[in-house]
Amino acid sequence: MVRDGGPITGEHRFVFVGGKGGVGKTVLAAALAYDATLHGKRVLLASLNPVHSLTSLFGQDLAGGKLTRIEGAEGLDAIEVEIDDLVRDYKAKMTGRLREFFRWAEVPINPDPFIEVATTNPAFHESAMFDRVMDLILEAGGKYDLVVFDTAAVANAVRLIGLSKLYGLWLARMIQSRREAQQFRLSLSFRKEKVMEEIKRDPVIADLIALHEKFTKTREVITDPKLTGFYFVTTPESLPISVVVRFIKMVEAFNIPVGGVFVNNVIDASEASSDPSGYLSAKVEEQRRYLKMIAEQMGDKVKGYVRSFPSEVRGIEALRAVVEDLRGYRPSF
Ligand SMILES: Nc1ncnc2c1ncn2[C@@H]1O[C@H](COP(=O)(O)OP(=O)(O)OP(=O)(O)O)[C@@H](O)[C@H]1O
Ligand SMILES: [Mg+2]
Repeated sequence: MVRDGGPITGEHRFVFVGGKGGVGKTVLAAALAYDATLHGKRVLLASLNPVHSLTSLFGQDLAGGKLTRIEGAEGLDAIEVEIDDLVRDYKAKMTGRLREFFRWAEVPINPDPFIEVATTNPAFHESAMFDRVMDLILEAGGKYDLVVFDTAAVANAVRLIGLSKLYGLWLARMIQSRREAQQFRLSLSFRKEKVMEEIKRDPVIADLIALHEKFTKTREVITDPKLTGFYFVTTPESLPISVVVRFIKMVEAFNIPVGGVFVNNVIDASEASSDPSGYLSAKVEEQRRYLKMIAEQMGDKVKGYVRSFPSEVRGIEALRAVVEDLRGYRPSF
């Protein structure tokens, strides 16, 4: 196996893998992670999918949301984040935060309906997931050389990163108005020491500042092309190609760096001759057109091709074959 020239993901420390459903995102994310371990890197593969796909890929029980060492791949840890736990914890956290807001703002109403609305809207799942991504980036960054995120929700992540700038501005404004309100209270107060003491310990301000810092740091990391790359997977088919083209536009609009594109499930022309029915030759012909289209539309971004294997990709040996294709296989079209 070729091990020169460093990992396929280069110097990137945070890698996101996206693409249409079922194109091979989990397989590619695992292959990129495994490839980096072959270069001596310590790698974390994090899945944020509702279905536990890493468990079936590695044949190791990764349920429970704990970091687990992958057998047979030195330096590779994986985590399968439990979405339900995540949402429950995040809801508890947000509920506490909102209650604090209401209490400090001295709003004499029952906050429960507001809390209910805030924590049950559809964007809440996405926010909870993104919160976990931020934690993983900020915590795991020191322990691992590379973190690979296998997440079906790349579009959501991108939107949230884009929104995080707005959110940051909003947080900064909130912090400022909270300070102004406190100053006002202080100037009216007869017991200034007590109010000063309260201001110093204000949990709302501390919370807002912490959140603001978390967003700012994450955005700095995610928009830095030296640190982060968003990689996309497509197959030589029309719909997956349009999805990737759309993703790339979206990612670039938010200044998020594109790492590259991988083309999965390629049927090599040499396979066709072994199939007397003509089915494979027809497939190869069709793929040829789409491979050309991929090269035309995203030529310099294409970083590798993977053939369609006769059976599902499971286990380290199968991943090794994927890595070998990524490094060495080029279809003719
Ligand atoms: N090159 C390949 N050859 C053969 N089988 C493959 C190949 N790539 C992926 N597969 C298989 O196809 C199925 C889908 O792949 P994978 O789970 O990686 O897709 P995904 O994009 O992560 O799907 P989802 O959108 O559901 O998360 C899996 O069973 C996988 O083993
Ligand atoms: Mg998957």
